[in-house]
Amino acid sequence: METVRTISDMKLLRQRLAEPVGFVPTMGFLHEGHLSLIRRARSENRHVIVSIFVNPTQFGPEEDFDSYPRDTERDLTLLKQEKADVVFMPEPEKIYPPGACTWVEVEGLTEMLEGISRPGHFRGVATVVTKLFNIIEPTYAYFGQKDAQQARVIRKMAEDLFMNLEIIVCPTIREPDGLAMSSRNFYLKGKERKAALILYKSLQLAQSLWNRGERHAGKIRGEIVSLIESEPLARIGYVSVADTETLQEIEEEIEYEALLSMAVKVGKPRLLDSIVLSGSA
Ligand code: PAF
Repeated sequence: METVRTISDMKLLRQRLAEPVGFVPTMGFLHEGHLSLIRRARSENRHVIVSIFVNPTQFGPEEDFDSYPRDTERDLTLLKQEKADVVFMPEPEKIYPPGACTWVEVEGLTEMLEGISRPGHFRGVATVVTKLFNIIEPTYAYFGQKDAQQARVIRKMAEDLFMNLEIIVCPTIREPDGLAMSSRNFYLKGKERKAALILYKSLQLAQSLWNRGERHAGKIRGEIVSLIESEPLARIGYVSVADTETLQEIEEEIEYEALLSMAVKVGKPRLLDSIVLSGSA
C-alpha cells in the first residue's frame, strides 16, 4: 500500500493505475461501515484509493473539528488488511491553499434536513469531494446510505457537473444490536450507548407500520416522534418523511416510496439514521 501526501504525487501515481479505479473518501477513524465500502470497491475495481482527510470546511464554528476522533496508525493498519492500494492523506493547506475561493453549492437539496442546523456543511462536503474527484479521477466512488442526504447531494452534483464517474451508494452497516456505525458513536458514554438504540427502534417501527399498510407520512412521522420522545436521553433534531429524489417533505399519502431520516442528539453526538420505505405490504 502506498501512502501519498501531496496532490502532485497523487496525480502522478494515478496515471500509472489501470482502470477501473475505485475511490472511498473518508475522514478516518475507520469502522466497519468504511471497511464495507472499501471491500465493495475492492471487489469491483483493479485499484482502490482511500482518502483520509478531516475536512475543515464541512464543520460549523461550534462543531467538533478539533476534537473529531483521529487514529491514523490504526486506520493505516486496517487499510493494509483490506488491501487498499493507495491512501491519500493531504494537508488542509494543500486542499485549501491561501487564496482558494471556489466553492461547490448544490442548491435546494442542501437547504433542508441537515442543511437547516448545519449551514455551509454541504458546501464544504461538495467542495472537498469535487477537489478529491479532480485529483483522483476515480471510475467509481463509494458512499454510505447512512448519510442519506449527503449521498443524494453528491449524486446530484456529479450529475449536474457531468462528472466522469459513477457514484455507488452502499447499505448502512450496523452494530449487532442495530446502532448504525459512525465515527461519532465514539462519543457515546455510559447509558447513552443503550439510549442511542432509539434510532434503530424507530426505523423498525416505521418499517412495521409500512408493512402493515400505513402510507400516511404524517402518521408515520408522528409515531416515530412519540417513540423517540419516550427516551429521556434523546433530543430530536428532525424526523423527516421525504421524497427520495427531491428530499421534499411528504405531508399526505406516500405514493411509491419515501426516505425516513432522522437526526437525534444523544449526549454529545448528533446521530443520523435513515431507511427507505418502499415496496408493497
Ligand atoms: O462522509 C464523510 O466522511 C465526509 O463527509 C466525506 C464524504 C469524506 C467528505 O469529507
